Amino acid sequence: MNLVKLCRQSRAPGLPALLAGALALATTLAGGPAAAAPQDTLHELAAAQGRYFGSATDNPELSDAAYTARLGSEFGQLTPGNSMKWDTTEPARGRFDFAKGDVITDFARQHGQTVRGHTLVWHSQLPGWVGSLPPAQVETAMTDHITAEATHYRGAVTAWDVVNEPFNEDGTFRTSPFYTALGSDYIASALRAAHAADPDARLYLNDYNIEGLGAKSDAMYALVRDLLDEGVPLDGVGMQAHLAVQYGFPYEMRANMQRFADLGLDVAVTELDVRMQLPADAAKLATQSSYYRQVTEACLAVERCVGITVWDYTDKYSWVPSTFPGEGAANLYDDGLLPKPAYTAVRTALGDEDDGGENGGDPGALKVRYRSGDSSPGDNQIKPGLQLVNTGTTPVSLPDVTVRYWFTGDNGASTYGTWCDWSPLGCATVTHRVAALGSPAAGADHYLEVGFGSGSLAPGASTGEIQLRLSKTDWSDFDESDDYSHTTGTSYADAPKIGVYVGGEPVWGIEP
Ligand code: XIL
Repeated sequence: MNLVKLCRQSRAPGLPALLAGALALATTLAGGPAAAAPQDTLHELAAAQGRYFGSATDNPELSDAAYTARLGSEFGQLTPGNSMKWDTTEPARGRFDFAKGDVITDFARQHGQTVRGHTLVWHSQLPGWVGSLPPAQVETAMTDHITAEATHYRGAVTAWDVVNEPFNEDGTFRTSPFYTALGSDYIASALRAAHAADPDARLYLNDYNIEGLGAKSDAMYALVRDLLDEGVPLDGVGMQAHLAVQYGFPYEMRANMQRFADLGLDVAVTELDVRMQLPADAAKLATQSSYYRQVTEACLAVERCVGITVWDYTDKYSWVPSTFPGEGAANLYDDGLLPKPAYTAVRTALGDEDDGGENGGDPGALKVRYRSGDSSPGDNQIKPGLQLVNTGTTPVSLPDVTVRYWFTGDNGASTYGTWCDWSPLGCATVTHRVAALGSPAAGADHYLEVGFGSGSLAPGASTGEIQLRLSKTDWSDFDESDDYSHTTGTSYADAPKIGVYVGGEPVWGIEP
């Protein structure tokens, strides 16, 4: 799918990759070289609030060096997406295999991260032999499994999702080999076995669609209250938080978390992602940002909410597209590992204030406006008019900024001439060139890149109109009607399909 890039909010704090721009700005202001301090990670921001910020991960992804670099640096906690599940750890009765899970706990140890064990008892990813057992053998098989696995990971995991997804949507207990054999008592039995095997681990029940007030969370609430009354070892409730922009934000999430906390339990957001119908667009990404922000705010508002785990941090390794056909783009980073608006929203919710300070302001709060200066989309020239606007609160150093207008070259020469026809900045300060896309996309195999030789843009200021023009060196005709960035609008409007970059990093627009 398309790489979804950033449309930064005006409150948006800077991103790691924007430090180049911040550095240049600092240099300008101070009149000499200045070192920009490294930006806090999500986990550091969360830790400053007494929380962790973690990510799910899985063994196949660990061969991706760019992925592991971020996984090991930005996050303070890991959850194995699959490698500690029953079908992996005990595929045949009594034959245990912890190799994959050990890779995850080793990675975490090397990077100073904690690990949530996921999961000991679940109806899914359960090897067939468990379901084939005579009912009288199920409890022993279950407690044997828990004992072996929780003992193996003693000291390496800080918390266990002991039972995963015990409820149906209406709050009745879900049918599983465990429920069929033991009724709901299997849950207490599982918790006791886990506590005996690892008395130090925090023990959780984990489910989805229990984030807000409703029948399913009421059922979880009644269950955990009863378990606590009976003295069953239970430390917390995990709310998976697999959200979707089309289904709305969970009703009263903060209040729901608080009622569990009021029972004396910890609460954790264990599998956060926010999916959407593809293709993603700026509006859906904005809704997604708001959901990520609201989850973060809810956790920070409830003292017993211990942390947030995203169900992997990048769209590149999301479980969503294969599980929910037609949906995706659910994660904080896009499939090119670039941060999305939701990443910034989480940082802001976690209290990131760097950008008024050591990072030299918010150099990325920019947008571009566009109008077509061309009433004949089939002729031999393309004539975009652009305005760059600083929507932030600090000046932006223009030499750090580039703008990309994407188009198709159509038939004819693949070399180009480019011109600036007019700009209140003076065309001498405006640079322009055409570059080819490495991998052509719909409506785009080239882009016009516009830059600036000098100057800065004050908060709220616009460059004013920059009239640009390009043609092929053989003056053959274009068909602009299918060009990615082209519209027929002849008055200026915000242009989400034109990209703005600061220090080479996207800050506005959706790439083709
Ligand atoms: C998912 C994994 O991410 C996928 O790779 C796997 O194919 C299916 O399971 N709730 C859970 C997780 O508790 O274990 C699930 O993980 C996602 C839903």
